[in-house]
Amino acid sequence: MPDDLLTAAKQVRENAHAPYSNFKVGAALRTTDGAVFTGCNVENVAYPEGTCAEAGAIAAMCAAGAREIAEITVVADSPTPVPPCGGCRQKIAEFARGDVTVTMATMSGASQAVTVAELLPGAFDASHMEA
Ligand code: THU
Repeated sequence: MPDDLLTAAKQVRENAHAPYSNFKVGAALRTTDGAVFTGCNVENVAYPEGTCAEAGAIAAMCAAGAREIAEITVVADSPTPVPPCGGCRQKIAEFARGDVTVTMATMSGASQAVTVAELLPGAFDASHMEA
């Protein structure tokens, strides 16, 4: 049911707080248990304090006690499907296997599906901290 994530991402995007960029983003993820969590970007007058839509969805997932992303969709009103920023790629990789699908979508109906591993090749992970 990939479309229910797109619908949820579009819906939560409406609640984005983006008065500085005027670029609203919505994200919706499904956990391996089937639960759906959403997030929108929340900007701040102190610009670096703003948070991305993906970070919001991940925070909601963790707050509910879930930890494993099965799929995630991000949507914005951009000319081409909006890719997660570098920081969000690392945040997604914390909770998703490399083969998990990340769907990037536009409000006008374009979409592109990639995997977490494609977005973040050579990711730093816990194995790199083994002695
Ligand atoms: N943004 C996201 O929320 N997710 C992305 O994947 C790309 C960028 C937000 C951050 C900021 O509020 C606005 O888009 C412009 O960069």
